[in-house]
Amino acid sequence: MSETTGKKAILELDGKKIELPIYSGTLGPDVIDVSGILKEGHFTFDPGFMATSACESKITYIDGDKGVLLHRGYPIDQLATKADYLDTCYLLLNGELPTAEQKQSFEKKIRNHTMVHDQVSRFFNGFRRDAHPMAIMVGVVGALSAFYHNSLDIENIDHRDITAVRLVAKIPTLAAWSYKYTIGQPFVYPNNDLNYAENFLYMMFSTPADKDYKVNPVLAKAMDRIFTLHADHEQNASTSTVRLAGSTGANPYACIASGIAALWGPAHGGANEAVLRMLDEIGTKDNVAEFMEKVKRKEVKLMGFGHRVYKNFDPRAKVMKQTCDEVLEALGINDPQLELAMELERIALNDPYFVERKLYPNVDFYSGIILKAIGIPTEMFTVIFALARTVGWISHWLEMHSAPYKIGRPRQLYTGPAQRDI
Ligand code: SDX
Repeated sequence: MSETTGKKAILELDGKKIELPIYSGTLGPDVIDVSGILKEGHFTFDPGFMATSACESKITYIDGDKGVLLHRGYPIDQLATKADYLDTCYLLLNGELPTAEQKQSFEKKIRNHTMVHDQVSRFFNGFRRDAHPMAIMVGVVGALSAFYHNSLDIENIDHRDITAVRLVAKIPTLAAWSYKYTIGQPFVYPNNDLNYAENFLYMMFSTPADKDYKVNPVLAKAMDRIFTLHADHEQNASTSTVRLAGSTGANPYACIASGIAALWGPAHGGANEAVLRMLDEIGTKDNVAEFMEKVKRKEVKLMGFGHRVYKNFDPRAKVMKQTCDEVLEALGINDPQLELAMELERIALNDPYFVERKLYPNVDFYSGIILKAIGIPTEMFTVIFALARTVGWISHWLEMHSAPYKIGRPRQLYTGPAQRDI
């Protein structure tokens, strides 16, 4: 629970002094409770919520200046290298890393829910074959609530818990099917002899004609690590969307679908796809200087760079770069786009334009190069992000519903016409 520090901020309004309580968390800045200014007839004003804490949470902590990311206190680089994605899912959902027994039971629970109702597969047919897979995911995940009428009571903790398991378990199946549908291949059902990442790659790339298809363990390990690096990230735009939707009492499948929709934007989860398209557009190192001039003229953004919170290296980007090197070496791939990316990074880290604006590579900068090496098509990059982030979204949804909450309803500074008659 946050602690009232006893300290107060004093706001002087129209000659009147208003005391605003200050709370401290475990880590990070203290917060000023500004709710008291409403009765003084004022709102706060913070477009983009740059300095606004929308809630109290125990799940993830980020220090943007130090490049720190903790999930329930554990540093992301330790989780990515010493644990796996399902360990991280258990940690985010339950607050502690699983014991061996808890992990075994959790894995069994997830495996028992990887299938979807057979009628879900018919939803896909309503889409054109060239539909963006994120469009399919928004639709299909939102429609899942139609199959679980007997477990949608958000006040019932058992309903909330089984929904979390269903979403973590089924999202890889739906993600793989959103790919298979767009390439006209039959859906591959989950193979529960495989682990989470292996199963996803199996559903993505095996076909009924290839009975002996085997997932490359190097690719499965890299996929699992990419899932871990994308699992959660505090109150980012899509997580805040899930919380806001959840605050209305909307069912969890609708809330997760709203998170998928918000993640799709190129300023957020859509950046990984945009990075690859940017690298394709630049083509070779010879074109980098001219491209950077376009960036400085603000004609384009340097996708994969910059972050609202990180004004230092995104700790996930470091692990992603290390994974990138490992995967490309293991596969014997010499991807010229990696060299191009490293040249962009080298320039950005030395050019005053980027240094002054504290623009460092973020989680999306290198992920696309690894995903391409794994064989994931570019339009599936953001689907992978949504797959991995689903556990973060549902963890925040569960946290919100585990304590009293109010419907989220921001106000505004109105600058439109005063009342007038027709
Ligand atoms: C994710 O919030 C999260 O936690 C998100 C995320 C998660 O895990 O959930 O980490 C995932 O979304 C990572 C970010 C992925 N997006 C991109 O890579 C797209 C490119 N980045 C930018 O769009 C931008 O950096 C944002 C949106 C990420 C952050 O924007 P801010 O904090 O609103 O910063 P800003 O737009 O106010 O920029 C400050 C300055 C501006 O220049 P000036 O007006 O001061 O001259 O920096 C410039 C911006 O023009 N700038 C960039 C830039 N990002 C910011 N200039 C060129 N290229 C960029 N990428």
